Amino acid sequence: MKTFHTVAELRAALKIERLKDKSIAFVPTMGNLHDGHMSLIRKAKEEGDIIVSSIFVNPMQFSDQSDLERYPKTLEEDKRVLEANGCHYLFAPDALEMYPDGKRSQTQIEVVGISDILCGASRPGHFIGVSTVVTKLFNIVQPDCAIFGNKDFQQLKVIEDMVRDLSSNVRIIGVDTARNEDGLAMSSRNGYLTEEERRIAPTIYQTLLWAKDALIANRASREDICEQAQQKLEAAGFRRDYFEICAQDTLQTPSEEEKRLVILTAAYLGKARLIDNLRVELA
Ligand code: PAJ
Repeated sequence: MKTFHTVAELRAALKIERLKDKSIAFVPTMGNLHDGHMSLIRKAKEEGDIIVSSIFVNPMQFSDQSDLERYPKTLEEDKRVLEANGCHYLFAPDALEMYPDGKRSQTQIEVVGISDILCGASRPGHFIGVSTVVTKLFNIVQPDCAIFGNKDFQQLKVIEDMVRDLSSNVRIIGVDTARNEDGLAMSSRNGYLTEEERRIAPTIYQTLLWAKDALIANRASREDICEQAQQKLEAAGFRRDYFEICAQDTLQTPSEEEKRLVILTAAYLGKARLIDNLRVELA
């Protein structure tokens, strides 16, 4: 695997691959890689000849400076794991390579509407940072396809909408959430949990499964199911952010007839903010 820190070097290498008619599959990340990220790399292998990954902890998508500073940085270990999993090129720029002031670009991409709900409501500006950096990375790598995790379901939807709206020539592929044995979705932020919190954390997935069952059995109104789920999380030691049932395609409040739903939640546990979701197809 070759690692490049500048746009110019990566472009030069990928130009040669394209001249050889190789297709490029791209996996953008913020590093501190785990098996969830590797499932995206495995999917990339199925989809393209050349696998490119990026590691960039994007300042523009963090509103909280301390959250940005404490984000785990493990580049050497990440390189080893990427190479072992068959990645060909890693792009690992520093902030000044990506932004003139190292923080943000003057031009911002906003997918209006979907960026302000759910995680966007709790983290204002977050998805503007995500759409802007992903646009930049797409322009730099010019991939045929890009792989994203369903774990960040709203992010995947924002990127899908952005690619459609901007007529980008990048095929977006979603990959199912990789979980630990106890159901907790793998995440770099799980490292923030104490031993005691780590024991409690799988409640988030169990509560999603409970809500899915309740929804299918039509056991209560959707509002009541969400409220009861929030109470279950609070009883386990979480602090509330949101717990919502949305239409899978738009993330809007679904009509009663809507069959394709997704239950999304975010909750605080100690210093960590955990997110998870579960899709539900009603009969
Ligand atoms: P990061 O959190 O590093 O995640 C990179 C990719 O890995 C995302 O597509 C995310 O959905 C996926 N991923 C994370 N945990 C996963 C899991 N348990 N199972 C499956 N996929 C998982 O998401 C970002 O970085 C950034 O916002 C980024 C898109 C790179 C833009 O900066």
